[in-house]
Amino acid sequence: MTAKNMDHLVSLCKRRGFIFQSGEIYGGMQGMYDYGPLGVELKNNLKHSWWKSMIYENDNIEGLDASILSNPIVLKYSGHEDTFSDPMVDCRSCNARSRDDQLDGGKCPECGSSDLTEPRPFNLMFKTNVGPIDDGSSFAYLRPETAQQIFTNFKNVVDSSSKSLPFGIAQIGKAFRNEITPRNFIFRVREFEQMELEFFVEPGSDEEWHKKWVQKRLDWWEEQGIPADSIELYNVPDEELAHYSKGTVDIMYKFPHGLEELEGVANRTDFDLGSHTKNQDELNISANVMKNKSSNTRLAIQNIETKEWVVPYVIEPSAGVDRGVLAIMNEAYNVEDLGEGKERTVLKLKPHLSPVKAAVIPLKKNNEELVKIASDLKSKLQKLNLGRIILENTGNIGKGYRRHDEIGTPLCITIDFDSHRG
Ligand code: GAP
Repeated sequence: MTAKNMDHLVSLCKRRGFIFQSGEIYGGMQGMYDYGPLGVELKNNLKHSWWKSMIYENDNIEGLDASILSNPIVLKYSGHEDTFSDPMVDCRSCNARSRDDQLDGGKCPECGSSDLTEPRPFNLMFKTNVGPIDDGSSFAYLRPETAQQIFTNFKNVVDSSSKSLPFGIAQIGKAFRNEITPRNFIFRVREFEQMELEFFVEPGSDEEWHKKWVQKRLDWWEEQGIPADSIELYNVPDEELAHYSKGTVDIMYKFPHGLEELEGVANRTDFDLGSHTKNQDELNISANVMKNKSSNTRLAIQNIETKEWVVPYVIEPSAGVDRGVLAIMNEAYNVEDLGEGKERTVLKLKPHLSPVKAAVIPLKKNNEELVKIASDLKSKLQKLNLGRIILENTGNIGKGYRRHDEIGTPLCITIDFDSHRG
């Protein structure tokens, strides 16, 4: 069985060192989590798998690693300053704040009161001060999506890598949202990671590419251990579309708390490249931040044959790393009945995602000969660059196997008295 509820996963994650609440010794902080020794390996493996499938397997996709601190003008032109908000309500009885669109029957989720304020927009972007003077004259946003730096680097990448349509720019990195109600473990957090591809295509070919990318992403998730029957596609209706989207298909996964978005695949049209090309005068931009700054760059690409300039359309598969980790852990979590009231937990991860690739376990603790053979073998395996190999010198084979079952290690090698140095 896969995990029936989130508590099983949260407990395994803490017990085995995958994920901890951030700042737990001080009571934690809502919407923030830290990845422990095994979590960081799993997360890195997932990101590597995405990177490989995007960049190494496609000569027309390039990588990028751009800054997190974002110039406010970028997020003004992108539309985030004006529109990136959720509707918030306050409860007049207990003062709790909630998202209006997530209320159950118009009642406060904390105390059940219906005495709520009118909803008002709450911008989700975090602001921070830049430089030594904290008087509001100079600030930056923590990026709410990695995508904008892809758009603002469009010309740099095209000029330095001689790309022609269709081609993509991919990036993995942190994004920040001041969620009103972070919840469900690492599903909705305030600091998370995204794996985003902006795939630039000829206008007119966008709808066909949109369909292709939805299918490619489903295939990729399946390779990570998320079967098609745990997924549903949701064609986002017009009234729910983000301000930049002409059409979005959400890849919905059956998380322990319900069917929710794992990844969105959007047709962003030429909205972003067009906005960042616009003259600043066309927008009503607040003067203190934007002084002397405007984009003079034309974010377009020349068709080599016709010499015509084209502002490409963009197809954007955008996946959350943390939601990916949660879905993969949920799928992999199995409890096996051993009879006589005994059971064991086995994490059936795809081997390429496993935090530990192999454990070498000497039968007897601190036996010089066995530990020497085990340690030589560990070094040899480590040199193959498979990932992390562990030498378990605990002397308790049963315990060692149980631990590695629970953390999804595909291979355990016991060194016994018949083992020889090779
Ligand atoms: N660039 C497009 C974009 O950011 P989005 O649907 O807002 O679109 C993309 O986010 C993905 O990022 C989501 O499908 C989800 O996996 C992840 N994500 C968004 N907000 C998140 C949050 N608060 N916590 C964890 N993951 C989140």
